[in-house]
Amino acid sequence: MDWYSQESFCKGLPSIPKPEIGVILVTGATGYIGGRLVPELIGRGYNVRVMVRSYSPEYEERWPDAEIMVADALKVSELKMALKGVSVAYYLIHSLLLGKKAFEQSDLQAVTNFRFTAEEQKLQRIIYLGALGNVNTNLSNHLRSRINVAKILEQGKVPTTILQAAIIIGSGSASFEILENIVRNTPIIINPPWANTLCQPISIRDVIKYLTGVLENSETTGKTYDIGGSDVLSYKDMMKIFARLLRKNRLYIPSPFSGIKGYSYIISLITPVPAPVISCLMEGVKNEVVVKEYEIGKYIDFQPIRFKVALLRALSREEHDKIATRWSDAYPPAHELAMKLIELSDPPRYISKYSLKTDKDSGALFRSVCQIGGKNGWFHTNWMWRLRGMIDRVFMGVGTSRGRRSVTSLRVNDVIDFWRVEELIQDKKLLLRAEMKIPGKAWLEFNIENEDQQNRLWVIAYFQPEGVPGYLYWYNFLPFHFFIFKDLLKQLCKRS
Ligand SMILES: NC(=O)c1ccc[n+]([C@@H]2O[C@H](COP(=O)([O-])OP(=O)(O)OC[C@H]3O[C@@H](n4cnc5c(N)ncnc54)[C@H](OP(=O)(O)O)[C@@H]3O)[C@@H](O)[C@H]2O)c1
Repeated sequence: MDWYSQESFCKGLPSIPKPEIGVILVTGATGYIGGRLVPELIGRGYNVRVMVRSYSPEYEERWPDAEIMVADALKVSELKMALKGVSVAYYLIHSLLLGKKAFEQSDLQAVTNFRFTAEEQKLQRIIYLGALGNVNTNLSNHLRSRINVAKILEQGKVPTTILQAAIIIGSGSASFEILENIVRNTPIIINPPWANTLCQPISIRDVIKYLTGVLENSETTGKTYDIGGSDVLSYKDMMKIFARLLRKNRLYIPSPFSGIKGYSYIISLITPVPAPVISCLMEGVKNEVVVKEYEIGKYIDFQPIRFKVALLRALSREEHDKIATRWSDAYPPAHELAMKLIELSDPPRYISKYSLKTDKDSGALFRSVCQIGGKNGWFHTNWMWRLRGMIDRVFMGVGTSRGRRSVTSLRVNDVIDFWRVEELIQDKKLLLRAEMKIPGKAWLEFNIENEDQQNRLWVIAYFQPEGVPGYLYWYNFLPFHFFIFKDLLKQLCKRS
């Protein structure tokens, strides 16, 4: 799938593109929403600058028509460079993956830096997508943090348009995958009291339409709007609708216990979304998130799609393997600025190499290598990979269940279970960086070398231990490498 296969979400948007606005900065461009917004803005002729936290060559391929700027919102000097000459900025920064304890502080610092730098650089406008929620109620940390971000931007000198949404439904969205996995994987669905809380989900296409629409309607400058889909539903209703669509007969049992911590932990074990994200999102299920006013309709007038239609579209994109961005694109904590193998000053302490000579051509070998993980599994000793993933999950790591964005295609920064693609050289090399809980840094490399008219396929494990646990970890797992990698190599050749 190429980057631009995202269908245009803004078809039928009742506003005209205004490229004369000047440079449009999209922060959080590597995230779920930002990743969908950028191609839309480029497609409408805007001069787009994307802000990413670390440079990767695949961004050039992903956004050939955009200017790429590396900046961390926690570093004012970098922000200054990113905001120089910008007219309008989308603020889509979010650190939910840091987990409950850390994300609030990080989000507040990032937005404060952004607000003051935007004032200094004399931006004309900021557009922020935040969360719905009644500030007079006992809001979850996540919703409160999103609303505090809005307040900080509102208090600044740069007029800010704030859009407030509940959960967003689309292929690759965390909320969609949580619902989908609960409905698919559990024949009995427990309904705690909060399953009756009302919510107004909105589809990703409608969110992108509103985000683009406010840019093209200057009357919306400096105002706050609620946005929502066409249905107000309880979480129980959503699961029932989803189960009917998937033709799954589910038993719904009411439960008087509403302990969010316990439910989020269980849900994190049966869905691909990591525990820190689930627990932040789940805390909000007690808060009603429903549109209170529909002022936005005066300026951007279209009928948002229904929940069921949003599910159908997301399922169909999943089925056709056409997910453009996914929640897993954003980095888990401690990995956002992870060091690349090439950036280590010395080679890693431990390297173990296995190889197999084969007649198969490099193209075919590379294609099978690029199909590992996710629904395809690891071709052999799958239970060992799964066990490693489960251990990671128990320790609140990302586990193996993150799967892959696409079954057939792979690009740099894609997630493969508990790995992330660090380097991809066609028909030659795939380098994966570990994102599981591990006492050190680990990489796994697949390499194809031409040797005497044949090809040699290599699997190389690199490990840089941290402290005594790191050494123990390496020597504990070393005996398993032999079985896992030898079999993996055989399977890769067989499937090529
Ligand atoms: N997704 C939903 O269901 C939903 C629902 C309602 C509202 N919203 C709102 O929509 C906005 C975007 O959400 P999302 O789902 O797209 O989030 P996301 O997928 O988690 O992406 C967050 C983005 O923020 C970037 N980021 C984090 N810390 C940063 C920093 N210090 N400096 C620069 N960039 C940083 C991340 O970059 P890295 O890739 O480097 O980590 C990533 O690109 C948020 O304000 C959220 O509240 C989302």
